[in-house]
Amino acid sequence: MTTTTETYGVDPTPTPLALLLLGREADPNSERGVECPGDLPPASDPNLVERARAAKAALGDRVFILGHHYQRDEVIEFADVTGDSFKLARDAANKPEAEYIVFCGVHFMAESADILTSSAQQVILPDLAAGCSMADMATAEQVAECWDVLTEAGIADVTVPVSYMNSSADIKAFTGKHGGTICTSSNAERALTWAYEQGEKVLFLPDQHLGRNTAVRDLGLSLDDCVLYNPHKPNGGLTVEQLRNAKMILWRGHCSVHGRFTLDSVNDVRARIPGVNVLVHPECKYEVVDAADLVGSTEYIIKALDAAEPGSKWAIGTELNLVRRLAKAHPDKEVVFLDRAVCFCSTMNRIDLPHLVWALESLVDGRVPNVITVDPEVAKYSKAALDRMLALP
Ligand code: 13P
Ligand code: SF4
Repeated sequence: MTTTTETYGVDPTPTPLALLLLGREADPNSERGVECPGDLPPASDPNLVERARAAKAALGDRVFILGHHYQRDEVIEFADVTGDSFKLARDAANKPEAEYIVFCGVHFMAESADILTSSAQQVILPDLAAGCSMADMATAEQVAECWDVLTEAGIADVTVPVSYMNSSADIKAFTGKHGGTICTSSNAERALTWAYEQGEKVLFLPDQHLGRNTAVRDLGLSLDDCVLYNPHKPNGGLTVEQLRNAKMILWRGHCSVHGRFTLDSVNDVRARIPGVNVLVHPECKYEVVDAADLVGSTEYIIKALDAAEPGSKWAIGTELNLVRRLAKAHPDKEVVFLDRAVCFCSTMNRIDLPHLVWALESLVDGRVPNVITVDPEVAKYSKAALDRMLALP
C-alpha cells in the first residue's frame, strides 16, 4: 500500500446516509433516528436553565445524566459525569441504582449504555436524530458480506474483528459472535495487542484512521501490512492475494469531523504560532497524526492540557465544543482549534438544552421518552464484545 492521501484519505463522495438525512423517519438498520415526538420548549425560552434545574432536582437519584466531551456547554452543565466513550460506558455500567440514564451523546453510545445496564434501567437519548455518520458507514449486511469474502479467501478463521465503539449494536454483535472485541480511542492499542494474541489478522471496523494509526504507530506494523476494504466495491476492491498478505484489514470508514484536518492545517498552525504543541485525536488521518506532537482520546486531550505549563501554546485537532471549553478553562495557555474553519460535530450538537429539558420534564410527568432498546439477541453478543473490552489488561 502506498502512503498517498488518495489511498487512505477521506472519501470525497458523500455517504448515502449523509448527515442531511438525519432526523427523518426511523431506520432501525442505521444510526439514523427520528424527529422528536414531543413539544420542545423554544430555544428562546429564558427559563430553560431554571426548568432543567428544577426537573433534575425533582428526579433526584432516579436520573443519571452522562455527557460526552463533545456536547454543548449548555448541556454539559447538567451532566452528572462527563467523559470519553470508554469512561461513559464504564460509568453507565457502574450506576445500577439509577432508574433513568439520560445519555447526552450519540446513538451508538446510548445503545452501549443500554447493553451494559440492567433491564430495570432505561436509557434515554434526548434527540433520536443524534446519530454518527461514521457508525453509519458499516451496516450489518455489508459486514456480513465482508466476512464471506474473508471466508472465501480462506482467512476468516485467522481473523479477529475489532470494532470501534463508534459502531451500531449490530456491528458490535457481529464482533462478539466472531470472538472479537470493542475498542475506544483510549484502549485501541491494548485491544489490538489482545487481538493479535488470538489470531493472525485483524478486521478493524469502521474507522480506518484509528485502525491504521494504532497498528502502525503503536504496534509497529508497516503501512504495507494494512489494506483498505471498500464495502462499495466487489470483494472490497481487494484481491485474494492482498487479503492473504495483509495483517490489518481496515474498513473504509471515517469521522466527518476529524477527517477535515489536513497536513496543511498542521503546517499552517506551526508557521502561525511558533512553539505550538499540536495535539490531535486518533480519528485524524495518518499523515496528520504523524505530524502532530501528541495524539489521544478526548479524555487524554483534557488531561494533557491540565498538565501543561502556563504560557504553553496548543493547537487541538478535535471537535470544537471541546476545544472552546479547553480554551476557556486554560486562560493561562494559548489554546486554538487546529483548523481555521469552525467544525462542530453536527449530530452531537443536536442534543441541546430544549431537548434535555423536554426529556427531563417528560420523566417528571411520568412519560419515558426516546428510550434506546437493543434487541436481546443483538445485546447478548454485543455485550460479549463489550465485556472483552472492559476486561482488557
Ligand atoms: P472519544 O471520546 O472516545 O475520544 O471519541 C471521540 C468520538 O468521536 C466520539 O464520537
Ligand atoms: Fe461520529 Fe465523528 Fe461525531 Fe464522533 S465526532 S460522533 S465519530 S461524526
